[in-house]
Amino acid sequence: MSPQTAQIHLVSSHPQVYEPSDDSFALVDALLADRANLLEHHPTVVCMEVGCGSGYVITSLALMLAQEGSGVDYFATDINPNAVRVTQETSEAHGVHVELICTDIASGLNSRLEGLVDVMVVNPPYVPTPKRLAVIGKPRLGLEGSMILPVADKLLSKKGWMYLVTITENNPSQICLQMRKKGYAARIVLQRSTEEESLHIIKFWRDYDSEVETAEVGSTNKTFPTRVVDSLLSQLSRLACDPTPSNAWRLMVESTRNKTMEEHFKKQESRLQELL
Ligand SMILES: C[S@@+](CC[C@H](N)C(=O)[O-])C[C@H]1O[C@@H](n2cnc3c(N)ncnc32)[C@H](O)[C@@H]1O
Repeated sequence: MSPQTAQIHLVSSHPQVYEPSDDSFALVDALLADRANLLEHHPTVVCMEVGCGSGYVITSLALMLAQEGSGVDYFATDINPNAVRVTQETSEAHGVHVELICTDIASGLNSRLEGLVDVMVVNPPYVPTPKRLAVIGKPRLGLEGSMILPVADKLLSKKGWMYLVTITENNPSQICLQMRKKGYAARIVLQRSTEEESLHIIKFWRDYDSEVETAEVGSTNKTFPTRVVDSLLSQLSRLACDPTPSNAWRLMVESTRNKTMEEHFKKQESRLQELL
């Protein structure tokens, strides 16, 4: 049986390119965990990685979906020309074709890929740990500034899915809320704590039901669809009540050393209560 993920010994490297690490493995594990859904999802046009580094993730995605056959084009971008070269070598070593573009996030690709990306994977350089800074320099994908989110919204197809790696410090709940405002639902596919960080791989997809509900509640002057309110409130109440350590949202709050997140949730809760 052919391998479903890239083989580490075939992954190319360069001193200035981020090598597969805990976050890369977590992202690929999340894709593997969701593989049955991905196959059923049946991407037909474009699968894409933003910030491909060594090419481990996009190559693994292509191998996982190989049985889907031809017709899907794989794209990957990186701002680092060495990463583009290394990904080329990694994908070729696995017999996978990936179109590589050296660019800032997806600049210059809008006219080509707008509304065409069925699956997007992103492991952004958001974590200012010394190890990562040494390899990838100052974080530029701007998760907190949410530069990646509008780009994803533009490029994803109507049935597009995005798998995004976040850590606690990225304020994942805020990212989910920002995507909610753009009409996306979210689910944590995988949560993993390492010595250094607590990783969440979050999957986003367009939630047409909530758009319908938004339209329905539009006449009542409410700005949030009811399902959004319900889902947020249930997350909030889980934060308050659920003592199980596996509760990703609770972990997120616990491992946030300052009170910013809790204050954010309190504000969010009072806003939601006003809406109800
Ligand atoms: C944490 S590494 C992830 C690499 C790979 N995706 C993985 O999971 O192993 C982030 C990657 O994003 C790239 N990157 C940083 N800023 C970028 C930008 N503005 N546009 C595109 N890629 C960027 C870095 O060069 C690096 O390869």
